[in-house]
Order: sequence, then structure tokens, then C-alpha cells
Amino acid sequence: MVSLGISFSCVAAARTTPSLASSPSCSNNKPFASLHTTRSLETSRVPFRLEISYDRRFSAELRWKPSAAARSGSVVATTKPEPLKIMISGAPASGKGTQCELIEKKYGLVHIAAGDLLRAEIGAGTENGKRAKEYMEKGMLVPSEIVVMMVKERLLQPDAQEKGWLLDGYPRSLSQATALEDLRIRPDLFILLDISEDILIERVVGRRLDPVTGKIYHLKYSPPENEEIAARLTQRFDDTEEKVKLRLKTHHLNVEDVLSTYKDVIFKVNGDAPIEDVFVEIDKALSSILEEKSRIDSASMAAGMTH
Ligand code: AP5
Repeated sequence: MVSLGISFSCVAAARTTPSLASSPSCSNNKPFASLHTTRSLETSRVPFRLEISYDRRFSAELRWKPSAAARSGSVVATTKPEPLKIMISGAPASGKGTQCELIEKKYGLVHIAAGDLLRAEIGAGTENGKRAKEYMEKGMLVPSEIVVMMVKERLLQPDAQEKGWLLDGYPRSLSQATALEDLRIRPDLFILLDISEDILIERVVGRRLDPVTGKIYHLKYSPPENEEIAARLTQRFDDTEEKVKLRLKTHHLNVEDVLSTYKDVIFKVNGDAPIEDVFVEIDKALSSILEEKSRIDSASMAAGMTH
């Protein structure tokens, strides 16, 4: 879908009322309005004119016409495709957050991590945060009445709508998936990081976080760049062997329901591979979706030019 903006050069003329014909700026009874793409005007440089003609009985006829430049073929019809909408899922410590950092950097999507939203509530000492922590400490899902509203509100913010979103760790149950389906919020791709369970514990206990940059490290697989960063790294309160086993159990109980909701868009990736190799696979999939979106938008734009 291409976003369009209308600028009428004779606004009064667009109304089919008797005063229209006597509008001083439209003296020859042939008012017109020009319509062109707004944001894509700069990027696509494909201007359009919208001609409005009408007869004495004031029945108006609207016609799309490509500009002279477009007719002469001097403009290139490249459109800005619809932003990507991606979900990423996987067992605890399968590498979701790590891949999200890379995806966000390359594709500029807004990263929305349910776990991070909850930890922010805990950090802020809110009632929801206090309740959430009780569940997180037991490796259980936080009740939907806390999580669903939080995620929905974040997804509907203008930045996520405009740049596209990358939803990490949500949905984790059928009811959470249904809450999005009810709003007709669906991903283009559901990335599933498939990982051998015997390496999860090592990943969890070795994970460290930089409170300054938010970057995820691993003492063995992704060590901090220097001593200064190493000294300030922190560990999550639920990153213990005992708690990750509980988190994994919760994951198994719910994952099938979620997968069944998105079975037509699931993209399974081997999460055991090194970080860069996992990203290569994801990157290929996202690029091809973007190409396809671009192709569809260009085709619909071209169809608009011929009508
Ligand atoms: P959340 O914060 O989402 O935790 P999680 O799902 O258990 O996932 P993690 O954040 O632990 O791991 P990750 O997959 O992001 O791995 P990472 O990239 O860091 O949720 C926490 C809790 O909040 C839940 O238990 C629940 O209570 C609650 N909650 C969250 N969402 C909820 C929801 N929707 N509904 C209800 N409750 C909810 O990687 C891990 C480590 O491995 C890092 O050190 C990293 O450097 C390393 N690593 C990553 N990839 C590789 C690789 N390919 N090779 C080697 N090392 C790697």
C-alpha cells in the first residue's frame, strides 16, 4: 500500500456546490486539483495529477493522470514498501535478543521485547512490576492482563507503525496470540530459533548485560570489548540454572499453541549456529520479504498510473 496525500490547488473547487462555479480562482469553470504522493514524492518522484471535471449539473468526475514527467518515462517508480512486521520466538536464551540487536541495526525496526517491558516495570517499582516479578522468579508466564495491554500499547505507538516492528517474546500463549489476531495484527514472518536444550544452561549462566548500552554479552561466546565494559556488566535475576529449567518447562507447555496460530509464516532457523551465521539466515529471509513488498507496491502504483 502506498500512502497518498492530496493537495488541492483550488480547494473550493473540489466541492460540487453552486458557489464552486463562481469561485474567482476557478473562473473558467474548470477547476482542478493536483494529487501527488507525499512521502514517496521525494523517494519515488512519481507525481500524479487528479483531474476533477464536472458538468452544469455539478456531477463531478475524478480521474488519475500521471504527470508529464511520468508519461515521458523520466521518473523512476521506486516505492517505499510497507514496513516489516516480525515476531521472534524460541526457548529461553535461544538468542532472540541477540538477533534482535542485529535486525534492529540493519532494518531499523522498533524492537519490542515483552521481557524488557516487564523488567522496566519492575525497575520503576510499579504495582504491575511487583506482580510480574513474582511470576518471573518462578519462571512462569506473567498474567495476560498485565502483558497484553503493555505490548498492544507499545505496538500501536507511531514509531512502531511507521518503521515497522520486531516483537520479541510475545505472544507466548494462545490467548496472547488471539489478542493480536483480534486487532488484525499479524506478522510478515514468525522467526523460530530452534536450539538444542543442552546448550541453554551454558548460555543463560554466561549471559551478561551492559546497563549503559543495553547490549547482550556472553562471557565465552560474545565477551565484552574492554575492561571498562566488563566491570559494569550485570546479570539478570532469573538467569540461574534452576530458573532456566522452569522457564523452559513453561515454554514447552505453550509453544505449540502459538506456532499453530502462525504456521503459514513460520521461518525456522538453527539457533545452535554461531551468532553471525544465524543472522545470515534471518537477513536473507527479511531481504526477500522486503523485495516482495516493494514489487507489490510498484505493481499497484503502476496499475494506478494506467487507469
Ligand atoms: P524474556 O526476557 O523474554 O526471557 P526468555 O524468553 O527466557 O529469553 P531470554 O531473554 O532469556 O533469551 P534470548 O532468547 O533473548 O537470548 P539472548 O539473545 O539473550 O522473559 C523473561 C520472563 O518474563 C519470562 O520467563 C516470563 O516470566 C516473563 N515474560 C516475558 N514475556 C512474556 C509474555 N509474553 N507473557 C508472559 N510472561 C512473559 O542470548 C542468551 C545468551 O546466549 C547471551 O549471553 C548471548 O550472548 C548468547 N548467545 C546468543 N546467541 C548465541 C549463539 N548463536 N551462539 C552462542 N551464544 C549465543
